[in-house]
Amino acid sequence: MKPKVLVTRKIYERPLQLLREKAEVTLNPEDRSMTPAEIMAALPGKMGVLAMGSDPWTAQLLEAGKDLKIVANNAVGFNNIDLNAATRLKIAATNTPDVLTDTTADLTFALILGVARRIAEADRFVRAGKWTGWTPNLMIGRDVHGKTLGIIGLGRIGSAVARRGQGFNMRVVYYDIRRLDPAVEQQHQLQFMPLRDLLEVSDFVTLHVPLTLETKHLIGAEELGLMKKTAYLINASRGPVVDEQALVEALRSGKIAGAGLDVFEAEPKVTPELLRMENTVLVPHIGSATDETREAMALRAVNNILAVIRGEIPPNILNPEIYQK
Ligand code: GLV
Repeated sequence: MKPKVLVTRKIYERPLQLLREKAEVTLNPEDRSMTPAEIMAALPGKMGVLAMGSDPWTAQLLEAGKDLKIVANNAVGFNNIDLNAATRLKIAATNTPDVLTDTTADLTFALILGVARRIAEADRFVRAGKWTGWTPNLMIGRDVHGKTLGIIGLGRIGSAVARRGQGFNMRVVYYDIRRLDPAVEQQHQLQFMPLRDLLEVSDFVTLHVPLTLETKHLIGAEELGLMKKTAYLINASRGPVVDEQALVEALRSGKIAGAGLDVFEAEPKVTPELLRMENTVLVPHIGSATDETREAMALRAVNNILAVIRGEIPPNILNPEIYQK
């Protein structure tokens, strides 16, 4: 008898087929997230779950999965999983690193260019039939090339954003809780700065930290107040890293020039004032949303489940301590 696996939302066909070869799959038939109650009802007998980053894997839900051996998140972020509870229950938790690094860095750059060059606003202008011809002062934005790019969180995605910045001839500064070896910094032309200094000198501040207790509201009124009036805030990490109310206030009062946001504090809700501002570019959490990358992410999640089925440690294990004797 094949082990039973729940897939909480439809994924690409190829990874689904691979999973079906080794597991009896229960697939959410609807094109929407499963509610926690629906997940709970589907859990009995399931040894694995292929979960979405939007599913809240609370201790309560994990405890309900009496036969659960793995929750394979279809995301690199895993703040939706109570990792302590998973570890206590000896449930493997996995994510999908690497395959979405460049795709998310591309989207970050789209936000940088989009907000600085007013792309979404200009598109709305043309569609509204307001364009009367070339004008010397129409839709004036700010240059990206040659400016200072401040990266907060120099992990995989932050580093990929740094490389793109260098391609745009930007000076790249970074802040991270772990500083690189100075020789590596020099080799990659990256300058470390304390957070406050980075906020003061950057023309673009871009966030690439995971959401943890320490990074919640890392950027609030005080931090936004340190930024240049001409600077932009970019967030393609997790919404709660920024105090959204403080951001609205900073944008409204001109403390910063604009924001490019892929993530929000209470997704899918967006603070209504952000929707009315022209100096924001807002996209619906699409950092990894390309055909190639979404398939690769699902493949990674499936491979993690298949490893557990084979009795192996999954390659993208987040809580390896569950395997310690
Ligand atoms: C998306 O936000 C992810 O974490 O993969």
